[in-house]
Amino acid sequence: MDLSMIFDDLPSVIELMIVTFTPKVFYSMLIVIALLLGLSVVFFITEKRKVLFLIGLNILVGITLVIIFFSPKVYERSYTEAYGHHVANDNEQGLKDLAADKDLIIGFASGIDRVDKGGVKARLMHEFNSYTSENDLKWSALLVDGELRKYDFTEADRSVAFAKEHGMRFRGHALIWGKGKLVQLTEEAAVADDPGAYILEEIRYHIKTVVGRYKGQVDSWDVVNEPMALMAPGFESNVFYDHMGIDYIKEALKAAHEADPDAKLFINGYVGADEEILYDLFVELIEEGIPIHGYGMQGHVMNGPMDIEKMTSFLKRISDLGLEVEITEMDVRLRAMEGYKSDDIYESQGIFYGEVIKACMEIENFRGVTFWGVNDERTWYDSVPPYKWQKPSDPLLFDSNWNRKPSYYHIYDVLMNI
Ligand code: G3I
Repeated sequence: MDLSMIFDDLPSVIELMIVTFTPKVFYSMLIVIALLLGLSVVFFITEKRKVLFLIGLNILVGITLVIIFFSPKVYERSYTEAYGHHVANDNEQGLKDLAADKDLIIGFASGIDRVDKGGVKARLMHEFNSYTSENDLKWSALLVDGELRKYDFTEADRSVAFAKEHGMRFRGHALIWGKGKLVQLTEEAAVADDPGAYILEEIRYHIKTVVGRYKGQVDSWDVVNEPMALMAPGFESNVFYDHMGIDYIKEALKAAHEADPDAKLFINGYVGADEEILYDLFVELIEEGIPIHGYGMQGHVMNGPMDIEKMTSFLKRISDLGLEVEITEMDVRLRAMEGYKSDDIYESQGIFYGEVIKACMEIENFRGVTFWGVNDERTWYDSVPPYKWQKPSDPLLFDSNWNRKPSYYHIYDVLMNI
């Protein structure tokens, strides 16, 4: 076996572990790995019985860890009583009404199948003024059997029509995404004489087709999603960047502008180790006259309370460039909020949500926030490891029964009082 392969990949394995596990889990895992390595040394220098004993011990430690870290927890829900008297109910103003005075966007993301139903639709119309397609407009989701240039627009058409019919703004998510599972593009680029030229042609075709189809109906497009590497400073290595460098971003923006000159064009991402590089990218785009209107910061809070100051100071810098800023994919994992300014974890989650929105409202060109889901019944966290084992993630403003959670009320209060 070629050990260099493991070591070549080591940074990305560690990166994945840090991103995936909460710090507590991550460090505990490191301790256990160290323990197991230590025990394995003993394994080699002792006689047979001790070896069996140590193997048994290792298995026991492993099972205990799995039980501790990968099993669901149950938290008391006191909020239905505690907030029962609050002003908000279905006959009162929704979040979108409070936001209207401030010309603010309060949005949700979901698949069209989930939202286009009586009860759900009514709830959403009561609270939100913006809709983002969670997956239906992604390049790979639009393709039939993954075949480039062969599109099925059924779900995408329904999504755009839903927003129009219900008077909501529509956010198109997302045109170009390195993690977008475009197998054919990757394979063909690998054998193309000029991979950069080949990819550029496909980018232009895709954007012209999709943006052109919805011309005048999409308020904002996430033209490029997640261009930066998550942990290491720099752009993410992907099929676009590897063959075109940052030209893929510039060309995508130009193509989108050409296809719909009135649509607002966003780069969507997160603040990672690369704040300066991302900032410099925006400066470069502006200086070169490339059409760019805003930056969407995702806002998935998965591993503990984010540094709100760091998050908002970056948005402020982008806003100071004259661009719009939004939080485009906000959700706060409940278990990440243990002990945050309250003994009641649902309250902790609400406090954090309120603080983020309040801080954002102080930024001049802040346009609003989109929540990544509609209620806690379904969230992407519940389908990806390790979060799917570490329930509840309960990251949204409403629980599965559509009860308003403290998160809802903390945001409500911020909107009322600003
Ligand atoms: O629709 C198919 C279904 O037909 C099939 O049977 C099933 C089998 O796995 O897969 C279904 O598609 C899944 C899709 O979600 C719809 O549920 C995909 O496998 C799954 O990969 C996809 O995950 C989405 C993920 O992006 C990758 O595209 C999540 O729903 C979506 O919430 C997530 O959203 C991303 C943003 O786009 C970018 N920022 C991070 C955010 C969270 O990861």
